[in-house]
Amino acid sequence: MARSALLNVMVQAAMKAGRSLSRDFGEVQNLQVSMKGPGDYVSQADRKAEDIIFAELSRARPGYGFLMEERGAVTGDDDQHRWIVDPLDGTTNFLHGIPIFSVSIALERQGQVVAGVVYNPAMDELYTAERGGGAFLNDRRLRVAARTKLSDAVIGCGVPHLGRGRHGNFLIELRNVMAEVSGIRRLGSAALDLAYVAAGRMDGFWEDGLSAWDIAAGLLLIREAGGFVSDLNGGQTMLEKGALVAGNEAIHRALLKTVTKPLKA
Ligand code: IPD
Ligand code: CA
Ligand code: CA
Ligand code: CA
Repeated sequence: MARSALLNVMVQAAMKAGRSLSRDFGEVQNLQVSMKGPGDYVSQADRKAEDIIFAELSRARPGYGFLMEERGAVTGDDDQHRWIVDPLDGTTNFLHGIPIFSVSIALERQGQVVAGVVYNPAMDELYTAERGGGAFLNDRRLRVAARTKLSDAVIGCGVPHLGRGRHGNFLIELRNVMAEVSGIRRLGSAALDLAYVAAGRMDGFWEDGLSAWDIAAGLLLIREAGGFVSDLNGGQTMLEKGALVAGNEAIHRALLKTVTKPLKA
């Protein structure tokens, strides 16, 4: 499969960071870990992966700005372009030896996400998308699942951790969804959750409390795989507000309604 020069740059950065994560995953017990807040951990592995991505992308596209989970915002000379990066999405899984984690890199041009890469190094699964060019898992073109009934659907979600708040709202959403779907999953990496929806592995997904770096690449993967994504009001504030519902057209519509309906006693 021929990739554009832009995607090649992003893939190279994601895979180099992925190799560093794989090495650290092999000796996770030796890593320095600190807490950013209750239930919110960051390790040397997160920072090393972020340094690699920052160096690779800065070298390949000098002047582009960044929004990265650990560094925050880095302004560049070029105000048209911004990388949005999560160097390790799924730190909790990673630190527990669960091989479900990813690197997520998106490029925004004039405020619009135009390219996205999500890489799971433990499974060597590389998801790529460029606006208008489709979404791929390694060399295979992706399409969201075709199931249209919630009763047949497997739906992914995120569970708010200690210190995150929204626990009550989440329980209402969960009870609503649980009552209507075939199964619920919680992978622990929002970027991979979205990639799985793009790949048709999960029929839909919802979560609140996310950050732009968790979802920027995954949103494009889903759209380029023919799926629909919105915030909990049906709007497009996902990157700013961090709440989203995703699926094919029918599942997105039904899930949005179910997630947001008031709980019946
Ligand atoms: C987390 C993961 C997780 C989601 C959390 C995120 P991190 O990202 O995406 O699935 O539920 O809200 O913070 O901290 O592991 O990069
Ligand atoms: Ca984190
Ligand atoms: Ca994340
Ligand atoms: Ca992270």
